[in-house]
Amino acid sequence: MSTEAERIKYLEKAWYNPFLLSSSEVLIDMLTDSGTSAMSNRQWAGIMMGDESYAGASSWERFEEAVHRVTGMPYILPTHQGRAAERILYNYLGGPGKVFISNTHFDTTRANIEYTGAQAVDLPCQEAADEDSDVPFKGNLDLDKLEQAIHEYGVSNIAGVILTVTNNSGGGQPVSMANARAVADICRKENILFILDMCRLAENSYFVRHKEPGMEQYSYLEIGRAMCDLADACVMSAKKDALVNMGGFLTLRHGDMANACTSMLIITEGFTTYGGLSGRDMEAIAVGLEEGFDADYLHYRISSTAYLGNKIRKLGIPVLYPIGGHAVYVDAHRLYPHIPVHQYPGQSLVCELFLIGGVRSVEIGSVMFGKYDDAGNLIPATRELVRLAIPRRVYTQSHIDYVAEVFEKVLQQREKARGYRIIQEMKFLRHFTAHFEPV
Ligand code: F0G
Repeated sequence: MSTEAERIKYLEKAWYNPFLLSSSEVLIDMLTDSGTSAMSNRQWAGIMMGDESYAGASSWERFEEAVHRVTGMPYILPTHQGRAAERILYNYLGGPGKVFISNTHFDTTRANIEYTGAQAVDLPCQEAADEDSDVPFKGNLDLDKLEQAIHEYGVSNIAGVILTVTNNSGGGQPVSMANARAVADICRKENILFILDMCRLAENSYFVRHKEPGMEQYSYLEIGRAMCDLADACVMSAKKDALVNMGGFLTLRHGDMANACTSMLIITEGFTTYGGLSGRDMEAIAVGLEEGFDADYLHYRISSTAYLGNKIRKLGIPVLYPIGGHAVYVDAHRLYPHIPVHQYPGQSLVCELFLIGGVRSVEIGSVMFGKYDDAGNLIPATRELVRLAIPRRVYTQSHIDYVAEVFEKVLQQREKARGYRIIQEMKFLRHFTAHFEPV
Protein backbone atom coordinates (compact mmCIF):
# COMPACT_ATOMS: atom_id res chain seq x y z
CA MET A 1 0.00 0.00 0.00
CA SER A 2 1.07 3.60 -0.46
CA THR A 3 -0.17 7.02 0.61
CA GLU A 4 -1.19 9.83 -1.70
CA ALA A 5 1.83 11.82 -0.48
CA GLU A 6 4.11 8.97 -1.55
CA ARG A 7 2.38 8.64 -4.89
CA ILE A 8 2.89 12.35 -5.63
CA LYS A 9 6.64 11.74 -5.26
CA TYR A 10 6.54 8.57 -7.39
CA LEU A 11 4.75 10.40 -10.17
CA GLU A 12 7.11 13.37 -10.11
CA LYS A 13 10.06 11.01 -10.34
CA ALA A 14 8.38 9.27 -13.30
CA TRP A 15 7.90 12.59 -15.13
CA TYR A 16 4.11 12.13 -14.89
CA ASN A 17 4.34 9.16 -17.24
CA PRO A 18 3.05 5.91 -15.67
CA PHE A 19 5.23 3.88 -18.08
CA LEU A 20 8.19 5.20 -16.06
CA LEU A 21 6.82 4.10 -12.67
CA SER A 22 8.24 1.10 -10.89
CA SER A 23 5.63 -1.67 -10.61
CA SER A 24 6.21 -1.79 -6.85
CA GLU A 25 4.75 1.73 -6.71
CA VAL A 26 1.51 0.60 -8.37
CA LEU A 27 -1.44 -0.88 -6.45
CA ILE A 28 -3.69 -2.05 -9.31
CA ASP A 29 -1.96 -2.34 -12.67
CA MET A 30 -4.24 -1.76 -15.65
CA LEU A 31 -1.53 -0.42 -17.94
CA THR A 32 -1.97 -3.38 -20.28
CA ASP A 33 -3.45 -6.84 -20.67
CA SER A 34 -0.34 -7.79 -22.64
CA GLY A 35 1.91 -10.39 -21.06
CA THR A 36 0.37 -9.66 -17.66
CA SER A 37 -1.95 -12.65 -17.49
CA ALA A 38 -1.51 -15.46 -14.97
CA MET A 39 -0.50 -18.75 -16.54
CA SER A 40 -2.39 -21.89 -15.59
CA ASN A 41 -1.07 -25.04 -13.94
CA ARG A 42 -1.18 -26.74 -17.37
CA GLN A 43 0.91 -23.97 -18.89
CA TRP A 44 3.46 -24.18 -16.09
CA ALA A 45 3.58 -27.93 -16.54
CA GLY A 46 4.29 -27.27 -20.22
CA ILE A 47 7.16 -24.99 -19.24
CA MET A 48 8.78 -27.93 -17.45
CA MET A 49 8.46 -30.00 -20.64
CA GLY A 50 10.27 -27.52 -22.88
CA ASP A 51 12.51 -29.12 -25.49
CA GLU A 52 15.31 -26.64 -26.05
CA SER A 53 16.83 -28.27 -29.14
CA TYR A 54 17.99 -25.66 -31.61
CA ALA A 55 16.20 -27.25 -34.57
CA GLY A 56 13.04 -29.34 -34.84
CA ALA A 57 12.25 -29.38 -31.11
CA SER A 58 9.17 -31.33 -30.06
CA SER A 59 7.95 -28.12 -28.37
CA TRP A 60 7.99 -26.47 -31.79
CA GLU A 61 5.87 -29.31 -33.17
CA ARG A 62 3.29 -28.83 -30.44
CA PHE A 63 3.34 -25.07 -30.98
CA GLU A 64 2.98 -25.41 -34.74
CA GLU A 65 0.09 -27.82 -34.39
CA ALA A 66 -1.73 -25.52 -31.94
CA VAL A 67 -1.25 -22.46 -34.18
CA HIS A 68 -2.32 -24.46 -37.21
CA ARG A 69 -5.49 -25.61 -35.45
CA VAL A 70 -6.54 -22.01 -34.81
CA THR A 71 -5.37 -20.36 -38.04
CA GLY A 72 -5.28 -23.17 -40.61
CA MET A 73 -2.31 -21.42 -42.21
CA PRO A 74 0.44 -23.44 -43.92
CA TYR A 75 3.40 -21.22 -42.98
CA ILE A 76 3.99 -20.46 -39.29
CA LEU A 77 6.84 -18.22 -38.11
CA PRO A 78 7.46 -17.98 -34.35
CA THR A 79 8.50 -14.54 -33.04
CA HIS A 80 9.37 -13.16 -29.63
CA GLN A 81 6.26 -10.95 -29.57
CA GLY A 82 3.64 -9.37 -31.81
CA ARG A 83 5.64 -6.39 -33.01
CA ALA A 84 8.44 -8.66 -34.23
CA ALA A 85 5.90 -10.35 -36.50
CA GLU A 86 4.74 -6.88 -37.56
CA ARG A 87 8.29 -5.74 -38.28
CA ILE A 88 8.95 -8.74 -40.50
CA LEU A 89 5.66 -8.49 -42.40
CA TYR A 90 5.46 -4.72 -42.81
CA ASN A 91 9.10 -4.40 -43.76
CA TYR A 92 8.44 -6.84 -46.56
CA LEU A 93 5.18 -5.23 -47.71
CA GLY A 94 5.80 -1.57 -46.83
CA GLY A 95 8.07 1.19 -48.06
CA PRO A 96 7.62 4.72 -49.38
CA GLY A 97 4.46 5.22 -51.44
CA LYS A 98 2.70 2.19 -49.93
CA VAL A 99 -0.55 2.51 -48.01
CA PHE A 100 -2.08 0.24 -45.36
CA ILE A 101 -5.74 0.53 -44.40
CA SER A 102 -7.15 -0.68 -41.09
CA ASN A 103 -10.18 -0.47 -38.82
CA THR A 104 -7.63 1.26 -36.55
CA HIS A 105 -3.89 0.65 -36.51
CA PHE A 106 -2.54 -0.20 -33.07
CA ASP A 107 0.42 1.97 -32.00
CA THR A 108 3.14 -0.61 -32.78
CA THR A 109 1.40 -1.51 -36.05
CA ARG A 110 1.33 2.12 -37.15
CA ALA A 111 4.92 2.67 -36.02
CA ASN A 112 6.20 -0.41 -37.89
CA ILE A 113 4.40 0.73 -41.03
CA GLU A 114 5.46 4.38 -40.81
CA TYR A 115 9.02 3.36 -40.03
CA THR A 116 9.25 1.83 -43.53
CA GLY A 117 8.05 5.11 -45.06
CA ALA A 118 4.56 3.74 -45.78
CA GLN A 119 1.30 5.36 -44.72
CA ALA A 120 -1.24 3.95 -42.23
CA VAL A 121 -4.87 5.00 -42.81
CA ASP A 122 -7.61 4.32 -40.23
CA LEU A 123 -11.15 3.75 -41.51
CA PRO A 124 -13.32 2.80 -38.51
CA CYS A 125 -17.05 2.41 -39.18
CA GLN A 126 -19.33 5.43 -38.71
CA GLU A 127 -21.15 3.84 -35.74
CA ALA A 128 -17.89 3.95 -33.76
CA ALA A 129 -18.16 7.73 -33.48
CA ASP A 130 -21.21 7.53 -31.19
CA GLU A 131 -19.74 6.49 -27.85
CA ASP A 132 -23.08 5.89 -26.13
CA SER A 133 -25.06 3.85 -28.63
CA ASP A 134 -25.60 0.14 -28.11
CA VAL A 135 -24.41 -0.90 -31.59
CA PRO A 136 -22.69 -4.28 -31.18
CA PHE A 137 -19.79 -4.21 -33.66
CA LYS A 138 -18.18 -0.80 -33.46
CA GLY A 139 -14.82 -2.36 -34.31
CA ASN A 140 -15.90 -2.83 -37.94
CA LEU A 141 -14.09 -1.26 -40.87
CA ASP A 142 -16.05 1.22 -43.00
CA LEU A 143 -16.65 -0.66 -46.26
CA ASP A 144 -17.71 2.34 -48.38
CA LYS A 145 -14.66 4.30 -47.28
CA LEU A 146 -12.46 1.26 -47.99
CA GLU A 147 -13.68 1.15 -51.60
CA GLN A 148 -13.19 4.91 -51.90
CA ALA A 149 -9.68 4.71 -50.44
CA ILE A 150 -8.66 1.93 -52.81
CA HIS A 151 -9.84 4.10 -55.69
CA GLU A 152 -8.19 7.24 -54.30
CA TYR A 153 -4.75 5.77 -53.47
CA GLY A 154 -4.74 3.34 -56.41
CA VAL A 155 -4.93 -0.45 -56.03
CA SER A 156 -1.26 -0.95 -56.77
CA ASN A 157 -0.26 1.30 -53.86
CA ILE A 158 -2.36 -0.53 -51.25
CA ALA A 159 0.03 -2.92 -49.51
CA GLY A 160 -2.64 -4.52 -47.34
CA VAL A 161 -5.87 -4.14 -45.41
CA ILE A 162 -5.51 -4.96 -41.71
CA LEU A 163 -8.42 -5.96 -39.50
CA THR A 164 -7.48 -5.80 -35.83
CA VAL A 165 -9.79 -7.99 -33.78
CA THR A 166 -10.87 -6.76 -31.34
CA ASN A 167 -10.10 -3.21 -32.35
CA ASN A 168 -7.71 -2.20 -29.56
CA SER A 169 -7.10 1.48 -30.32
CA GLY A 170 -10.76 1.81 -31.32
CA GLY A 171 -12.03 0.99 -27.83
CA GLY A 172 -11.53 -2.79 -27.76
CA GLN A 173 -14.67 -3.10 -29.85
CA PRO A 174 -15.36 -6.34 -31.74
CA VAL A 175 -15.48 -6.91 -35.49
CA SER A 176 -18.39 -8.92 -36.91
CA MET A 177 -17.92 -11.95 -39.12
CA ALA A 178 -20.03 -10.21 -41.76
CA ASN A 179 -17.65 -7.25 -41.80
CA ALA A 180 -14.58 -9.51 -41.99
CA ARG A 181 -16.18 -11.41 -44.89
CA ALA A 182 -17.03 -8.20 -46.72
CA VAL A 183 -13.50 -6.84 -46.26
CA ALA A 184 -12.04 -10.13 -47.48
CA ASP A 185 -14.35 -10.07 -50.53
CA ILE A 186 -13.25 -6.55 -51.46
CA CYS A 187 -9.60 -7.52 -51.02
CA ARG A 188 -9.97 -10.64 -53.13
CA LYS A 189 -11.77 -8.74 -55.89
CA GLU A 190 -9.02 -6.10 -55.98
CA ASN A 191 -6.17 -8.57 -55.41
CA ILE A 192 -5.12 -6.83 -52.17
CA LEU A 193 -3.68 -8.70 -49.18
CA PHE A 194 -6.02 -9.16 -46.23
CA ILE A 195 -4.16 -9.26 -42.90
CA LEU A 196 -5.69 -10.23 -39.58
CA ASP A 197 -4.22 -8.93 -36.32
CA MET A 198 -5.55 -11.80 -34.26
CA CYS A 199 -4.13 -11.11 -30.82
CA ARG A 200 -7.61 -10.89 -29.28
CA LEU A 201 -9.34 -13.28 -31.68
CA ALA A 202 -10.86 -15.44 -28.92
CA GLU A 203 -12.44 -12.44 -27.21
CA ASN A 204 -13.72 -11.22 -30.56
CA SER A 205 -15.24 -14.66 -31.20
CA TYR A 206 -17.17 -14.39 -27.94
CA PHE A 207 -18.91 -11.23 -29.15
CA VAL A 208 -19.57 -12.73 -32.60
CA ARG A 209 -21.19 -15.79 -31.10
CA HIS A 210 -23.40 -13.84 -28.69
CA LYS A 211 -24.23 -10.75 -30.71
CA GLU A 212 -24.21 -11.70 -34.39
CA PRO A 213 -27.39 -13.36 -35.67
CA GLY A 214 -26.86 -16.93 -36.83
CA MET A 215 -23.49 -17.35 -35.13
CA GLU A 216 -24.60 -18.83 -31.79
CA GLN A 217 -24.46 -22.37 -33.23
CA TYR A 218 -20.66 -22.20 -33.68
CA SER A 219 -17.96 -22.71 -31.06
CA TYR A 220 -15.56 -19.86 -30.28
CA LEU A 221 -12.76 -21.78 -31.94
CA GLU A 222 -14.84 -22.39 -35.08
CA ILE A 223 -15.61 -18.68 -35.28
CA GLY A 224 -11.97 -17.72 -34.79
CA ARG A 225 -10.85 -20.24 -37.37
CA ALA A 226 -13.46 -19.01 -39.87
CA MET A 227 -12.07 -15.49 -39.53
CA CYS A 228 -8.49 -16.70 -40.07
CA ASP A 229 -9.67 -18.63 -43.13
CA LEU A 230 -10.49 -15.28 -44.75
CA ALA A 231 -6.97 -13.89 -44.32
CA ASP A 232 -3.74 -14.05 -46.33
CA ALA A 233 -1.66 -13.43 -43.21
CA CYS A 234 -2.19 -13.31 -39.45
CA VAL A 235 -0.11 -11.39 -36.94
CA MET A 236 -0.27 -12.56 -33.34
CA SER A 237 0.90 -11.25 -30.01
CA ALA A 238 0.53 -14.38 -27.87
CA LYS A 239 0.76 -12.11 -24.82
CA LYS A 240 -2.98 -11.53 -25.13
CA ASP A 241 -5.38 -14.38 -25.95
CA ALA A 242 -2.69 -17.09 -25.80
CA LEU A 243 -2.31 -16.22 -22.11
CA VAL A 244 1.48 -16.13 -21.94
CA ASN A 245 3.95 -13.58 -20.66
CA MET A 246 5.99 -13.46 -23.88
CA GLY A 247 5.61 -14.69 -27.44
CA GLY A 248 4.01 -14.23 -30.82
CA PHE A 249 3.88 -15.48 -34.39
CA LEU A 250 3.27 -14.62 -38.00
CA THR A 251 1.27 -16.98 -40.20
CA LEU A 252 1.18 -16.80 -43.98
CA ARG A 253 -0.83 -18.44 -46.71
CA HIS A 254 1.47 -17.85 -49.69
CA GLY A 255 4.85 -19.47 -50.32
CA ASP A 256 6.57 -16.47 -51.90
CA MET A 257 5.80 -14.24 -48.93
CA ALA A 258 6.74 -17.03 -46.54
CA ASN A 259 10.17 -17.37 -48.15
CA ALA A 260 10.94 -13.67 -47.92
CA CYS A 261 9.65 -13.39 -44.35
CA THR A 262 11.48 -16.55 -43.25
CA SER A 263 14.80 -15.05 -44.35
CA MET A 264 14.09 -12.01 -42.20
CA LEU A 265 12.98 -14.27 -39.34
CA ILE A 266 16.29 -16.12 -39.36
CA ILE A 267 18.31 -12.90 -39.60
CA THR A 268 16.51 -11.04 -36.83
CA GLU A 269 14.64 -13.49 -34.58
CA GLY A 270 16.06 -17.00 -34.85
CA PHE A 271 15.87 -20.30 -36.71
CA THR A 272 12.52 -21.28 -38.23
CA THR A 273 11.57 -23.72 -35.46
CA TYR A 274 11.98 -21.31 -32.55
CA GLY A 275 12.08 -17.73 -33.88
CA GLY A 276 12.43 -15.57 -30.81
CA LEU A 277 11.14 -18.22 -28.42
CA SER A 278 12.54 -20.89 -26.16
CA GLY A 279 11.01 -24.38 -26.29
CA ARG A 280 9.26 -23.84 -22.96
CA ASP A 281 7.64 -20.63 -24.25
CA MET A 282 6.23 -22.53 -27.20
CA GLU A 283 4.77 -25.18 -24.87
CA ALA A 284 3.02 -22.50 -22.83
CA ILE A 285 1.63 -20.85 -25.97
CA ALA A 286 0.32 -24.17 -27.30
CA VAL A 287 -1.64 -24.72 -24.08
CA GLY A 288 -2.66 -21.06 -23.79
CA LEU A 289 -4.13 -20.98 -27.29
CA GLU A 290 -6.45 -23.78 -26.22
CA GLU A 291 -7.40 -22.24 -22.88
CA GLY A 292 -8.01 -18.83 -24.47
CA PHE A 293 -10.93 -20.30 -26.41
CA ASP A 294 -12.40 -22.18 -23.43
CA ALA A 295 -16.09 -21.29 -23.09
CA ASP A 296 -16.14 -20.83 -19.30
CA TYR A 297 -12.93 -18.83 -19.30
CA LEU A 298 -14.20 -16.51 -22.05
CA HIS A 299 -17.51 -15.99 -20.27
CA TYR A 300 -15.64 -15.01 -17.09
CA ARG A 301 -13.30 -12.78 -19.06
CA ILE A 302 -15.85 -10.75 -20.99
CA SER A 303 -18.23 -10.52 -18.00
CA SER A 304 -15.55 -9.20 -15.67
CA THR A 305 -14.52 -6.46 -18.08
CA ALA A 306 -18.20 -5.46 -18.47
CA TYR A 307 -18.57 -5.48 -14.67
CA LEU A 308 -16.01 -2.70 -14.26
CA GLY A 309 -17.26 -0.76 -17.30
CA ASN A 310 -20.90 -0.82 -16.29
CA LYS A 311 -20.10 0.01 -12.69
CA ILE A 312 -18.19 3.20 -13.46
CA ARG A 313 -20.65 4.12 -16.22
CA LYS A 314 -23.42 4.08 -13.59
CA LEU A 315 -21.37 6.52 -11.53
CA GLY A 316 -21.43 8.93 -14.48
CA ILE A 317 -17.97 8.30 -15.94
CA PRO A 318 -18.15 8.67 -19.75
CA VAL A 319 -17.08 5.23 -21.01
CA LEU A 320 -17.09 3.84 -24.52
CA TYR A 321 -20.20 1.72 -24.84
CA PRO A 322 -20.80 -1.18 -25.24
CA ILE A 323 -17.90 -2.33 -23.06
CA GLY A 324 -15.21 -4.09 -25.13
CA GLY A 325 -13.31 -7.30 -24.46
CA HIS A 326 -10.03 -6.65 -22.74
CA ALA A 327 -10.43 -3.14 -21.37
CA VAL A 328 -12.69 -0.29 -20.37
CA TYR A 329 -12.11 2.97 -22.23
CA VAL A 330 -12.93 6.31 -20.62
CA ASP A 331 -13.42 9.45 -22.73
CA ALA A 332 -11.17 11.87 -20.81
CA HIS A 333 -12.16 14.84 -22.96
CA ARG A 334 -15.77 14.43 -21.90
CA LEU A 335 -14.75 13.90 -18.28
CA TYR A 336 -12.48 16.98 -18.27
CA PRO A 337 -14.01 19.46 -20.75
CA HIS A 338 -11.99 22.24 -19.08
CA ILE A 339 -8.66 20.72 -20.22
CA PRO A 340 -7.89 21.56 -23.87
CA VAL A 341 -6.75 18.75 -26.12
CA HIS A 342 -3.23 20.17 -26.47
CA GLN A 343 -2.92 19.81 -22.69
CA TYR A 344 -3.75 16.11 -22.93
CA PRO A 345 -6.86 15.41 -20.81
CA GLY A 346 -6.12 11.67 -21.08
CA GLN A 347 -2.72 12.10 -19.48
CA SER A 348 -4.41 14.10 -16.76
CA LEU A 349 -6.84 11.28 -15.98
CA VAL A 350 -4.04 8.71 -16.03
CA CYS A 351 -2.18 10.80 -13.43
CA GLU A 352 -5.30 11.37 -11.31
CA LEU A 353 -6.06 7.64 -11.19
CA PHE A 354 -2.57 6.98 -9.95
CA LEU A 355 -2.48 9.83 -7.43
CA ILE A 356 -5.90 9.09 -5.97
CA GLY A 357 -5.72 5.31 -5.90
CA GLY A 358 -2.43 3.92 -7.19
CA VAL A 359 -4.22 2.63 -10.30
CA ARG A 360 -2.04 2.53 -13.42
CA SER A 361 -3.75 3.01 -16.79
CA VAL A 362 -2.71 4.19 -20.24
CA GLU A 363 -3.57 7.20 -22.38
CA ILE A 364 -4.85 6.33 -25.85
CA GLY A 365 -5.31 9.80 -27.29
CA SER A 366 -3.16 12.65 -28.49
CA VAL A 367 -0.14 11.58 -26.45
CA MET A 368 -0.15 8.20 -28.20
CA PHE A 369 -1.40 9.23 -31.64
CA GLY A 370 -0.95 13.03 -31.86
CA LYS A 371 1.29 14.40 -34.59
CA TYR A 372 2.73 17.85 -35.31
CA ASP A 373 2.13 19.98 -38.38
CA ASP A 374 5.00 21.83 -40.09
CA ALA A 375 4.53 24.79 -37.74
CA GLY A 376 4.85 22.49 -34.73
CA ASN A 377 1.17 22.63 -33.74
CA LEU A 378 -0.46 19.48 -32.40
CA ILE A 379 -2.68 17.55 -34.80
CA PRO A 380 -4.76 15.76 -32.17
CA ALA A 381 -5.99 12.17 -32.24
CA THR A 382 -9.69 11.63 -32.96
CA ARG A 383 -10.38 10.90 -29.30
CA GLU A 384 -8.80 11.40 -25.89
CA LEU A 385 -9.24 7.99 -24.29
CA VAL A 386 -7.84 6.34 -21.21
CA ARG A 387 -7.70 2.56 -21.22
CA LEU A 388 -8.08 0.37 -18.16
CA ALA A 389 -6.80 -2.94 -19.50
CA ILE A 390 -7.55 -6.00 -17.43
CA PRO A 391 -4.90 -8.69 -17.03
CA ARG A 392 -6.36 -12.16 -17.54
CA ARG A 393 -6.95 -14.39 -14.52
CA VAL A 394 -5.27 -11.92 -12.14
CA TYR A 395 -7.61 -9.58 -10.25
CA THR A 396 -10.58 -10.42 -8.06
CA GLN A 397 -13.93 -8.68 -7.89
CA SER A 398 -12.88 -6.74 -4.79
CA HIS A 399 -9.84 -5.33 -6.62
CA ILE A 400 -12.20 -4.15 -9.34
CA ASP A 401 -14.62 -2.67 -6.78
CA TYR A 402 -11.67 -0.71 -5.41
CA VAL A 403 -10.99 0.72 -8.88
CA ALA A 404 -14.62 1.84 -9.07
CA GLU A 405 -14.19 3.60 -5.70
CA VAL A 406 -11.17 5.43 -7.09
CA PHE A 407 -13.35 6.63 -9.95
CA GLU A 408 -15.88 8.03 -7.45
CA LYS A 409 -13.10 10.24 -6.09
CA VAL A 410 -11.98 11.14 -9.61
CA LEU A 411 -15.50 12.45 -10.22
CA GLN A 412 -15.56 14.42 -6.96
CA GLN A 413 -12.28 16.11 -7.87
CA ARG A 414 -12.83 16.54 -11.60
CA GLU A 415 -12.68 20.36 -11.58
CA LYS A 416 -9.28 20.25 -9.90
CA ALA A 417 -7.62 18.13 -12.60
CA ARG A 418 -5.11 20.05 -14.72
CA GLY A 419 -3.47 19.59 -18.08
CA TYR A 420 0.08 18.53 -18.93
CA ARG A 421 2.71 19.54 -21.44
CA ILE A 422 5.34 17.31 -23.00
CA ILE A 423 8.89 18.39 -22.23
CA GLN A 424 10.78 15.50 -23.82
CA GLU A 425 9.78 12.96 -26.48
CA MET A 426 11.00 10.49 -29.12
CA LYS A 427 10.02 10.42 -32.77
CA PHE A 428 8.26 7.03 -32.76
CA LEU A 429 5.96 5.69 -30.02
CA ARG A 430 6.61 8.75 -27.89
CA HIS A 431 4.09 7.82 -25.20
CA PHE A 432 6.33 5.07 -23.81
CA THR A 433 9.12 7.40 -22.74
CA ALA A 434 7.85 11.00 -22.89
CA HIS A 435 8.41 13.34 -19.94
CA PHE A 436 5.58 15.66 -18.87
CA GLU A 437 5.04 18.55 -16.52
CA PRO A 438 1.77 19.92 -15.15
CA VAL A 439 0.51 23.09 -16.84
N1 F0G B 1 -1.40 -5.60 -32.26
C1 F0G B 1 -2.26 -5.26 -31.30
C2 F0G B 1 -3.71 -5.09 -31.63
C3 F0G B 1 -1.82 -5.06 -29.99
O1 F0G B 1 -2.70 -4.73 -29.05
C4 F0G B 1 -0.45 -5.22 -29.70
C5 F0G B 1 0.07 -4.99 -28.35
C6 F0G B 1 0.42 -5.58 -30.73
C7 F0G B 1 -0.08 -5.77 -31.99
C8 F0G B 1 1.89 -5.74 -30.50
O2 F0G B 1 2.14 -6.89 -29.77
O3 F0G B 1 3.16 -6.09 -27.62
O4 F0G B 1 3.43 -8.45 -28.38
O5 F0G B 1 4.62 -6.62 -29.53
N2 F0G B 1 -0.59 -4.40 -27.46
C9 F0G B 1 -0.20 -4.13 -26.09
C10 F0G B 1 -1.26 -3.27 -25.46
C11 F0G B 1 1.17 -3.61 -25.92
O6 F0G B 1 -1.02 -2.73 -24.37
O7 F0G B 1 -2.36 -3.15 -26.01
P1 F0G B 1 3.41 -7.00 -28.77
